[in-house]
Amino acid sequence: MSDVVTMEKIVALCKRRGFIFQSSEIYGGLASTYDYGHYGVLLKQNVKNEWWRSNLQERDDMVALDAAILMHPRVWEASGHLAGFSDPLVQCLGECKQRFREDHLREAQPEGELKCPVCGGDLSEPRQFNLMFQTHVGPVAESGSTVYLRPETAQGIFLDYKTTLQYSRKRPPFGIAQVGKSFRNEITPGNFVFRTLEFEQMEMEFFVPPAEAQQWYEHWLQARLDWYVGLGIDREKLRLRAHDADELSHYSSATSDIEYLYPIGWSELEGIANRGDFDLRQHQEHSGEKLEYVDPQTKERYLPHVIEPAAGLGRTILALLCDAYDEDEQGGEQRTVLRLHPKVAPIKVAVLPLLRKDGHPELAREIYEDLRKRMSAEYDSGGHIGKRYRRQDEIGTPFAVTIDHQSVEDHTVTLRQRDSLQQDRIAIADLASHLEEQIR
Ligand code: GAP
Repeated sequence: MSDVVTMEKIVALCKRRGFIFQSSEIYGGLASTYDYGHYGVLLKQNVKNEWWRSNLQERDDMVALDAAILMHPRVWEASGHLAGFSDPLVQCLGECKQRFREDHLREAQPEGELKCPVCGGDLSEPRQFNLMFQTHVGPVAESGSTVYLRPETAQGIFLDYKTTLQYSRKRPPFGIAQVGKSFRNEITPGNFVFRTLEFEQMEMEFFVPPAEAQQWYEHWLQARLDWYVGLGIDREKLRLRAHDADELSHYSSATSDIEYLYPIGWSELEGIANRGDFDLRQHQEHSGEKLEYVDPQTKERYLPHVIEPAAGLGRTILALLCDAYDEDEQGGEQRTVLRLHPKVAPIKVAVLPLLRKDGHPELAREIYEDLRKRMSAEYDSGGHIGKRYRRQDEIGTPFAVTIDHQSVEDHTVTLRQRDSLQQDRIAIADLASHLEEQIR
């Protein structure tokens, strides 16, 4: 991340170029809720693909799951979310009447009586506020029909642990991986997509023999940190932070966050928790279903312990955008550029005919049709070539191919690199394989 980046610039770029924008904007917007546009969708998809590749495809000890968002309501009794998944809420008793999380205010005002950060008014006593959204199954909101939008994808994994164990022929240590939407009725508005009401999580529950829990916890801390570095994020802007005892969630005996240095300061990107056997034990007790694992060799019977690397997709996207954002000067003109790693960049290559005549568009279209079968490519013939380069720089396209007079004569094109601005002549016949190598 260059020194020039601010959250305002990221928000403005995301809207201008169609990555992410306010949801329901024509109605004035819905707080902490965002829509992903064309380039945002492609960027998200690339990140999810990288996550699946690294955590599923390249491992022998992981299986995939896509559990339902709505689950039996008793799940949330067993998981502890009904009783314990709440934030301390205070309301301003002065002029503005706004609500805040007491723990967040305390971080900013470590000493003395808390005051409203907006108007300076007194605050109410804290009240616990459950973060789960409720809805009802069936036409009438009667008792027994209440269901919850899941606040984490994790519980679906615990519910399907036994079925997965049976059909997958895995044995601990092994994991179940899932990507999907979660929902939290967050009180404090959230710094763009850092904290939203609806968000995607990329979670794994890794089931291990109890004696191996610490070793696997350490494995996952390193593996997950390395994954972010592999996405191209600056290692200096990433750190591991172990939770203090008073920060730990109700289920966890140890948690560390991977934090990123966002423009708002060091903040959580992913949490890696040692959940012990808390969840399987709770679900075993509440459902009456035996969830113990019996080792076929030793006949030892145990509830596996669980290491959970839980990442947020929105926070990963925000970290990537902040890290990639840069401004420089080209030929006396200011340039904004996203220096995204080619493997996550929404568009890998732009194909640009220099002129709209002399056979340039026809040849460019031919090249584009060939490239788009192998990578995400964009054809753009509109406007001055410099402007078209700038547009691609702003969406993070690492390569641009320009078709000119010489191309028509000798079947070569100019290949421009986004970061170095180097331009090389390359044969059209070699273009696709050369780009594929660079993107990897
Ligand atoms: N299953 C464990 C769990 O859900 P968490 O730390 O509450 O743990 C995991 O959430 C990750 O999900 C966080 O590190 C963050 O990246 C993301 N996340 C949580 N709440 C979020 C929110 N309101 N908006 C965006 N991302 C969120």
